[in-house]
Amino acid sequence: MNPKNALQGLNNPAIIVHGGAWSIPDDLKAEHLVGVINAVKTGYQILVEHGSALEAVERAVVCMEEDPTFDAGIGSFLNEEGYVELDALIMDGNTLNAGAIGAVSNCRNPIILARRLLEKINSPMMLVGRGADKFAEKVGLSCDPKELIIPREQERWEKGNVGKDIFSPNAKGTVGAVAVDMNGHLASATSTGGSPFKMIGRLGDSPLIGSGGYASEVAAASSTGHGESFMKLNAAKLAIDLVEQGHTPQMAAKIVIEKIASINGYGGIIIIDKQSRLGFHFSTTRMAYASISKEGHLDSGIDPK
Ligand code: GLY
Repeated sequence: MNPKNALQGLNNPAIIVHGGAWSIPDDLKAEHLVGVINAVKTGYQILVEHGSALEAVERAVVCMEEDPTFDAGIGSFLNEEGYVELDALIMDGNTLNAGAIGAVSNCRNPIILARRLLEKINSPMMLVGRGADKFAEKVGLSCDPKELIIPREQERWEKGNVGKDIFSPNAKGTVGAVAVDMNGHLASATSTGGSPFKMIGRLGDSPLIGSGGYASEVAAASSTGHGESFMKLNAAKLAIDLVEQGHTPQMAAKIVIEKIASINGYGGIIIIDKQSRLGFHFSTTRMAYASISKEGHLDSGIDPK
């Protein structure tokens, strides 16, 4: 804990990020760790420079959207027709304002687009499909959809996977970040390319307020995994409610993931609270995560603790 912050009445900031919960093979371990560590350090730097939690989670997620290791932004899975459709959600715990983007096909960083929607006065909180594409064009965040496709994913799509379970935990993962800043404000951000070969227009949990992410004045959470299960339980909001009822973020994460498992779902969740306490849990064999605690300690890994 930084005693100078306490003297000035400031909160000690903290942040935790995830890079998806799935059975990450050994040969992809290093790049996942590099990716989440880069993201968490980027977000933490913003927090120690008195930046907002909202800015920190957005920038942390941008790092992972720009990293083709993850199923977010460039390098995401292709849908059934062979192009990328991205979902993202960002939420400010202080105001409960959110920006949600679904099935956008022409934007490299949907989390930035979601933030632009959040900041827009008198606007909707969620835009999907053509509306999201048009918004990306309007605010200068659009790109050629082909720019989002990398050879690895083109090859995966061309080989096809008809007959395989497209929601298998072998799919690479969604990314997310939650943070608390020096003012004690919380924020959550989540971004994904969804599942491989998904139906056109399929939205998972990630852009849905309360499923893929949530932030209140008390806590913030971001989910990863089988989206339809997280939607059934409104998992991120459930996590916040558990913290508000007195559970630590770590206990809340465990309870949520056990409930997801009880309905045959799988995945992981990260949680932070106003006291800068961190929690994460996952039911898949691995989840890439990295955190920087209120004491400034960096922790990262992909295996269960
Ligand atoms: N959890 C990400 C998705 O299901 O799309």
